[in-house]
Amino acid sequence: MKRSMLNMLALSACTVAFNAHAQKFDGLAATPQMGWNSWNTFACDINEKLIRDTADAMIKNGLKDAGYEYVNIDDCWHGKRDEKGVIQADPERFPSGMKALADYVHGKGLKIGIYSDVGATTCGGHPGSRGHEYQDAQTYAAWGIDYIKYDWCDSKGLNAVGAYTTMRDAIRAAGRPMLFSMCEWGDNKPWEWAKDVGHSWRTTGDIYLCFDCEFSEASYSRWGVLQILDKQAGLRVHSGPGHWNDMDMLEVGRGLTEDEDRSHFAAWAMLASPLILGNDVRKMSDATKRILTNKDVIAINQDKLGIQAWRFMQAGQLEYWAKPLDNGEWAMMILNRSEQPTPVSYQWTNYRINDDMSKRVLDTTKTVFTWTDAWTGKTGDTSKKLESKLAPHGTIVLRLKARS
Ligand code: GLA
Repeated sequence: MKRSMLNMLALSACTVAFNAHAQKFDGLAATPQMGWNSWNTFACDINEKLIRDTADAMIKNGLKDAGYEYVNIDDCWHGKRDEKGVIQADPERFPSGMKALADYVHGKGLKIGIYSDVGATTCGGHPGSRGHEYQDAQTYAAWGIDYIKYDWCDSKGLNAVGAYTTMRDAIRAAGRPMLFSMCEWGDNKPWEWAKDVGHSWRTTGDIYLCFDCEFSEASYSRWGVLQILDKQAGLRVHSGPGHWNDMDMLEVGRGLTEDEDRSHFAAWAMLASPLILGNDVRKMSDATKRILTNKDVIAINQDKLGIQAWRFMQAGQLEYWAKPLDNGEWAMMILNRSEQPTPVSYQWTNYRINDDMSKRVLDTTKTVFTWTDAWTGKTGDTSKKLESKLAPHGTIVLRLKARS
């Protein structure tokens, strides 16, 4: 055998051995990741001051203490690639550079995320990572990046499994644990193949600022809160610690009604979606702050079992969702899809709630549970009928605990 051939064989054996060991970083996103992202409010109008001020605000207004950890820069931070192909930050928007910005964010006890794309160009027309995956992952690692959102624009001719696996391997090779947030919009059912590739995957196209609507662009649609919720049907079996169904970034605090904001936040919490804020956290109303820092709702999202809720009953415009929690506890959400105030009358003992997936059963005929309303703090127990009135697009969120 010729020497060159032997070399080639040795090289490909190495590649195979390397890839066989490539895997995503474990231990990240053991519970759904929490943080902020620039896109929903600022789109391409971003710069280093905004990112620094956002990090400062997250500390001042209690978001960091509530658990929000990642400060994520979305599309449009990019400058050009240098003569060696190394990506640079836009020198006008980020004159101090990404390393300095990462140091600043880390100095505040927070983590920093960045955005790229499988294609040659991002959705905003900036340089994507195609053909530069290993180089980009190394650059991000050298800057101190903790989180990579990886988009699916300009992906023509690419195989989704291959494209996302390549970036996962590149992150692994770069050696820095960076959470890999796949943004493939659910086009190729990532829940079926990405458990070992990403820490979360978007399940739908982009969210739109409405509670109940579809907004059609030329070739795709953006979706309201209820539309995204409906698209989660059947996906819960694929979600769990380290690999979450991502329902997209939150629109809380951006113009929905207060009841709609509460329902939106509760639904994302119940379905164990990442909680990535999309509002301007430098100026939030007290109502928005109260919703986003609600400890009880966040605790439901961050429950360590990581079991996604399911809709166990629909009665007219009311939906009933349940989520098994650690320690034998449960969360329950009642959602009013209608635009009318709607009475709720729920006789606990009429229903035996049985989760085939987790094998958990909520049987209030055998055990009395006490409940606490996460929004109002009101308490009660399952021996008495639950009677309430839900506001248009409103929710009740209860945490149930067996009475000792
Ligand atoms: C896509 C993503 C969005 C956002 C934009 C940026 O639409 O799904 O979340 O990142 O690109 O251009």
